[in-house]
Amino acid sequence: MTSLIYPTTNLARTEELNIVRGEGIYVFDAGGRRYLEGLAGLWCSALGYGNRELIEAIREQLETLSYSHMFGGRTHQVGMDLAERLSAMLPIPEAKIFLANSGSEANDSMMKMLRYWANVSGRPERKKIIAFERSYHGVTLASAALTGLPVMHEHFDIPARELGIIRAATPHYYHGHREGESEAEFVGRLIADVRGLIEREGPETIAAFIAEPIGGAAGVVVAPDGYFPALCRLLGEHGILFWADEVICGFGRTGNAFGSTTVGARPQLMSLAKQMSSAYVPISAAAIPGSMYEALVEPSRKAGIFGHGFTYSGHPVASAAALKAMEIYERDGLFAHAAAVGEHMQRRLREFRDHPLVGEVRGRGLIGAVELVAGKDGRKPFPDGRAGAIAVQCCREQGLLIRAVAGSSIAFCPPLIISEAQIDEMIECFDRALAEATDAIHREMSGLLQ
Ligand SMILES: Cc1ncc(COP(=O)(O)O)c(C=O)c1O
Repeated sequence: MTSLIYPTTNLARTEELNIVRGEGIYVFDAGGRRYLEGLAGLWCSALGYGNRELIEAIREQLETLSYSHMFGGRTHQVGMDLAERLSAMLPIPEAKIFLANSGSEANDSMMKMLRYWANVSGRPERKKIIAFERSYHGVTLASAALTGLPVMHEHFDIPARELGIIRAATPHYYHGHREGESEAEFVGRLIADVRGLIEREGPETIAAFIAEPIGGAAGVVVAPDGYFPALCRLLGEHGILFWADEVICGFGRTGNAFGSTTVGARPQLMSLAKQMSSAYVPISAAAIPGSMYEALVEPSRKAGIFGHGFTYSGHPVASAAALKAMEIYERDGLFAHAAAVGEHMQRRLREFRDHPLVGEVRGRGLIGAVELVAGKDGRKPFPDGRAGAIAVQCCREQGLLIRAVAGSSIAFCPPLIISEAQIDEMIECFDRALAEATDAIHREMSGLLQ
């Protein structure tokens, strides 16, 4: 073993797969074996590997200005151009853009801006944030506090309560509905519960509600139609901002520019990362409305600075990569492509619905999941991540790299450039892998099966 501490890894099982190169939607390991990137790396490699245009834009920027910061009045054109392009794309009035390097930093920065805003606009009590019980928003102390997955909290003393994080039920109908409850009734009950939560906590104490339009690492959670429009209406009644974490859904993943559009949400705040630069260089953004930005200006005039920023905020090379990625997305109509081939992927995934170990198949556009369950009739989940891990291992043996999320949901999120034929190839790999995984699960975990 080398000296690396690996991120989000079982530290007792590291260095199992050494990837050495990528090409299109495929990567190759040190032994020369080819794998289809079924999760676009970590939900991020929209344009796949080896995109010459993107590489050339990055190379040119490295030669012109490899680094310059944005502190204390300094700026550079490529960073300003990126902000203008984003601001014009986002559904936020006169959006102002704070640039960072990761989704976690974007969410952390947003929380700090919300706290600052509450303090300088005379409402210091308005700082609580509602997040789903099952949710993923990152791993810094503040963004981990937003994240609602026990394994990301355990042993870390994450200050969720201290930061005013409160939880609402995850809108996952399959697991959350009561016997005989329709989707519309489920939505009505959850929205009533959020209303109750807001009333109990006091609306004047709640700044925002953060949610992914479609949850990714939390299990590819697709809320029933009507949930997000009703939620946004409710929040609007109380002056609570809807904060869309578009780190996965942003830039075409669900078949629209933003996942918020797909689910009918109207965000006032947005976090962006991952596909923002197609993962060629790390970059992220926290976008706020112009009116909120205005409130930050005067206090910083008094203090001399707005005291938040990173060495690499608006890094010119990352900004150039993001600008070029957006140019390619638009020119090549990649969001519409994701919608079209996404329908094909969803159709093909639904073929697994009748498999005895498959509880639910769900998704939109080019993000989807096949959830494995121990009991199909009673929606009985597997108690830990073992079934998912077995399936992922079988997929790897078949030349498909994907991940199991929230235990036993096998997630699919291929690069946006994938073709229908390549989706078929991915599905056929999964079909073979699922047959092998089913045998292994029967062998190793038969006692759990219903
Ligand atoms: C929805 C969402 N938000 C935030 C993050 C955190 O992003 P990062 O890993 O770049 O810090 C992720 C990462 O997967 C994510 O999926």
